[in-house]
Amino acid sequence: MNAYNFNQIEPQIEQRVERLLVQMTLEEKVGQMTQISVDRLGRDEAEQRIRQGQVGSVLTFYGAAEINRLQKMAAEESRLGIPLIIGNDVIHGYRTIFPIPLAESCTWDPALLEASARIAAEEASADGTDWTFAPMVDICRDPRWGRIAEGAGEDPFLGAALAQARVRGFQAANLASGRKLVACAKHYAAYGAAEGGKDYNTVDMSERRLRDVYLPPFKAAFEAGAGTVMSSFNELNGVPSTANPFLLRQVLREEWGFVGPVLADYNALKELIPHGLAADLQEAARLSALAGLDMDMVADGYHIHLADLVRAGQVPEAVIDEAVRRVLRLKLMLGLFERPFTDETLAETIILKEEFREKALEVAQKSMVLLKNEGGLLPLGQNVRRIALIGPLADDHHEILGCWYRIGRDEDTESVLDGFRAVLPASVQLTHVRGCDLVGAETPDIEAAVAAARAADVAILVLGEGEFMSGEAHSRAYLGLPGQQQALLEAVYASGTPVVAVLMSGRPLVIPWLANHIPAILQAWHGGIRTGRAVADILLGRANPSGKLTASWPRSEGQIPVYHAYKNTGRPAEGEGTIQFNKPHRAEYLDELNTPLYPFGYGLSYTGFAYEDLRVETPLVGANDTLVVSATVRNTGQRAGVEIAQLYVRDLVGSVTRPVKELKGFRRVSLEPGRQQRVRFEVPVQALGFWGLDMTYIVEPGKFKVWVGPNAATGLEGEFEVKAG
Ligand code: BGC
Repeated sequence: MNAYNFNQIEPQIEQRVERLLVQMTLEEKVGQMTQISVDRLGRDEAEQRIRQGQVGSVLTFYGAAEINRLQKMAAEESRLGIPLIIGNDVIHGYRTIFPIPLAESCTWDPALLEASARIAAEEASADGTDWTFAPMVDICRDPRWGRIAEGAGEDPFLGAALAQARVRGFQAANLASGRKLVACAKHYAAYGAAEGGKDYNTVDMSERRLRDVYLPPFKAAFEAGAGTVMSSFNELNGVPSTANPFLLRQVLREEWGFVGPVLADYNALKELIPHGLAADLQEAARLSALAGLDMDMVADGYHIHLADLVRAGQVPEAVIDEAVRRVLRLKLMLGLFERPFTDETLAETIILKEEFREKALEVAQKSMVLLKNEGGLLPLGQNVRRIALIGPLADDHHEILGCWYRIGRDEDTESVLDGFRAVLPASVQLTHVRGCDLVGAETPDIEAAVAAARAADVAILVLGEGEFMSGEAHSRAYLGLPGQQQALLEAVYASGTPVVAVLMSGRPLVIPWLANHIPAILQAWHGGIRTGRAVADILLGRANPSGKLTASWPRSEGQIPVYHAYKNTGRPAEGEGTIQFNKPHRAEYLDELNTPLYPFGYGLSYTGFAYEDLRVETPLVGANDTLVVSATVRNTGQRAGVEIAQLYVRDLVGSVTRPVKELKGFRRVSLEPGRQQRVRFEVPVQALGFWGLDMTYIVEPGKFKVWVGPNAATGLEGEFEVKAG
């Protein structure tokens, strides 16, 4: 698929930028650095400012007709006719809502994510949007943080691969609007490391960890051509990202050579005041501009103060010119000057096309993760004649849309009940009881639920979180089932009828009781408009689950953060520790295990896979060589299935200590029953390095372990050496 690279400078565009720039007044320049919300400002003021050329961009504004109306004021009624760029949060689909990004990441399928992002771009662009505030590429190792739902999980290697896929999809060529759509990598940077998982919270981390773990997905997104970036709300090592010259100038411009605009997050410029970095809005505007922030989202710090700051000599006009060049370049690249208006009949021919709904079903099926399947309870067999479908999410048409569904509609969705009705043979009897609410203390129907379970061969409980329990400003300290759902679950379990749990959530949950007692568990996430059908297809064996977790599931909240790429410490839990005061001392809890409940990379299938015959084909490699490792993956079961094979390494000794495991490769392998495939991983040795003591990226000579296997906790083990020189 062709995608546009917004980081490639084109000489004709540069000339047009310069021709425009010389005609602009200082106020018009500041206008291009200003993004407004029409709702926040009020229509009259917004329209007046647009006509005066004081607005560069509008956010959270939907619909081609409405957008055209505003665009006319900018492109035809303002002095220079510079069109607006309309930015929206198209996070996991526009109207065809796909699974939340964390769920999508569990497909480990870049091509599929590219396809879903492309569909989102086609719909959004047909309806007038030119800029999506996605992909969110924040690494997150703390499921208390509600925004873990929006990212690709805990791992920088997978995160980078999926960031690139999404960028390619969003920035695909040949959109029906005749323009392009630009992606925005966010939130730059380290927003996912908020202390305690509390949204917006402080981040203080070593530069090495920042560079090894949190920055790679951003760099990857820009390498794939992402045209814009959004700075994050959090402070990083004492300086909020909005006014952080290390992030916005040194890394972004000097090291990476990124040419696109940096957009502040919502009101973040003004929030420099409560952060304690700026005394007032004027100082906040000055610090942000000097640090390299190109566009102010809704805070109006630039609108009110920037021109005066330039006139007072406190901000050089050259700083403003650079920012304006970036914005104009972007608008020219998008094709906004040639085609500012969107055909108002376009959206209805594109939105919710049948092929988009089909793709949403495929992504939903592939993103769901089978966590447990004791005794092969799933898929439900011919012997199941009566099903009790229970739980507050069993007939839900809203929560499944997940956070940031924006213009997504409940009426577009299929609930699990709908899904079963669509595919269940007429001979199977289906009863539905809600059982209890999602949250709150009421347990209205528990008795009815138990009675339904008693009268059934199997009880399917659909439980979990609502869409409002994850996403922005929705962190949780307790990650169990909310409300009375645990009570409902235990009561139904006590009926003695076998129970299948289908969980929906925007994050890994903490489910020790469930994992212990319930024989079959499917993690369905908030799977978008086709959630219900995907669940029914999987439970009935019409689709074989293949998703694998991209964030570890903790056993308890006290274990957090728990992730696969941890460091060993001097007294690792797996070893003997050190005897001190007559007792072994180890890095562990008195009252909890160190291992997660379900590790990174974990997920079951209805068939089995065996890993055999690991071969390290290049046992001695140079720093510029390619490591080649292969293994046989065999389908040992009775069904066709897809296995996601993973390659991990450990650098045993380094001048800086290295994680016990790092993901460096993955492959989706599709196998018929009884068949096997040789899976070959080729890893550039340059990808095995880290940021060294002097803060340069190095690959050190020495011994490594390597594993190929089904998840981060297990696999065939081999070794290789990187030679000196
Ligand atoms: C969020 C961003 C989002 C922006 C615009 C902010 O509150 O942090 O992710 O893109 O709002 O809606």
